[in-house]
Amino acid sequence: MKTHNYSYHRRIFLKSTCAASLIYSFLPKLASGAETQVIKKTIPSSGEKLSVIGLGTSRTFNINQDAESISPLIEVIQAFFDQGGQLIDSSPMYGNAESVTGSLLNQVKNRQNLFSATKVWIDGKSDGIGQMDRSMQRMGVDHIDLMQIHNLRDWQTHIETLIDWKARGKIRYIGITTSHGRYHQDLQAIMQQHPLDFVQFSYNILDRDAEQYLLPLAQERAIATLINRPFQRGNLFRLVKAKPLPEWASNIDCASWGQFFLKFIASHPAVTCIIPATSKIKHMKDNMAAGYGRLPDEQTRQRMIDYVEAL
Ligand SMILES: NC(=O)c1ccc[n+]([C@@H]2O[C@H](COP(=O)([O-])OP(=O)(O)OC[C@H]3O[C@@H](n4cnc5c(N)ncnc54)[C@H](OP(=O)(O)O)[C@@H]3O)[C@@H](O)[C@H]2O)c1
Repeated sequence: MKTHNYSYHRRIFLKSTCAASLIYSFLPKLASGAETQVIKKTIPSSGEKLSVIGLGTSRTFNINQDAESISPLIEVIQAFFDQGGQLIDSSPMYGNAESVTGSLLNQVKNRQNLFSATKVWIDGKSDGIGQMDRSMQRMGVDHIDLMQIHNLRDWQTHIETLIDWKARGKIRYIGITTSHGRYHQDLQAIMQQHPLDFVQFSYNILDRDAEQYLLPLAQERAIATLINRPFQRGNLFRLVKAKPLPEWASNIDCASWGQFFLKFIASHPAVTCIIPATSKIKHMKDNMAAGYGRLPDEQTRQRMIDYVEAL
C-alpha cells in the first residue's frame, strides 16, 4: 500500500474543499443569532447529499421498550430531525436499540428525511437474511437505506447477499464496519476489492490512525465514510472536564467541547457523516449545532490537535 505524505493529504484536502462537497439546505438559527444551513456531504457512489451529523444508538437506545422508558427519548430524536439530522445507525448487536428506534420513529413528527442504517452481525447466509429481515421489522421500515456488515463478521458470505439485495431495491447502499485498529488492514483489502458504498470506522481528535490509510483510501475509491466513537465513547469529555475552550473556537462557530470534537472530524474532506450517540436532549442539541456554521481549515485543524494534546 502506498504511504501518503503530508503534501498528498494537503492536495486532497484542498481539492475537496475547492470542489465544495459541502452543501447547505436547512435554515434554523445558530445560538449566535446568525442564520445558516445544515452542512451536507456527498455520498460519492450516488451524488446524494447527507447531513454531516447522524446518530448512533449503541447503549443509549438499548433500554426497556415500555412507554415510560422510551418517552424521554422522543424529544431527543425529535430534536435530531428538527435540526436537520438524517442518518440513524443501529445494529442487532445493540440489544433493544433497533426496536426502540422503530418505536421512536413512529412517534416523531418529521422523519421524512430519515436515512436508516443498520447491520448484519451473525454467521451464515440464511441466518443473515433472517436477521436483516427482522431488523427492518424492528425499525419499522420497508427498506434499509444502508446495510452494513458489522465488524467484518462473515463478510465473504454477507457481501453477496447485500449486492443481491441492492440490485433488488431492498437496500440502497452497502457498507462494512469496524471500531478496532486490528481490523484496519483487512478493511483496506475489502475496500480495494469490493463494491462498497460506505465504510464505517473510528476517528476522533485523539485517535487519528484513520488519516494514514482509511480516509485517503475511501476518497480514492469513492466510498462514503461513517465515523463512530467521535467522543471515544464519552472519554474525550472526561479529558477536557473543567478545561476552557480556546477563545479562537468561536472563529469556527464552536460553543462547546462537543462541537469542537465534531467539527474537527467533519472538516476532514473524506468524512461523510459522524454518528455520535446520546440519550440527552441537551447533548443532542449540542451535537446537531456542530452541523452548522464554519468548519476549520487545515491550519486550524492542526491548532485544535495541538490544543487538546497539550491539555
Ligand atoms: N463496529 C461498529 O460498527 C461500531 C462500533 C462502535 C460504535 N458504533 C456506532 O457509533 C456510535 C457512536 O459511538 P459510541 O456510542 O461508542 O461513542 P461516542 O458517540 O463516541 O460517545 C457516546 C457517549 O458520549 C456522550 N455524549 C454524547 N454527546 C455528548 C455531548 N454533546 N456532551 C457530553 N457528552 C456527550 C454520551 O452520553 P449521554 O447519553 O449522556 O449524552 C455517550 O456516553 C454508536 O452508538 C454506534 O451506532 C459502531
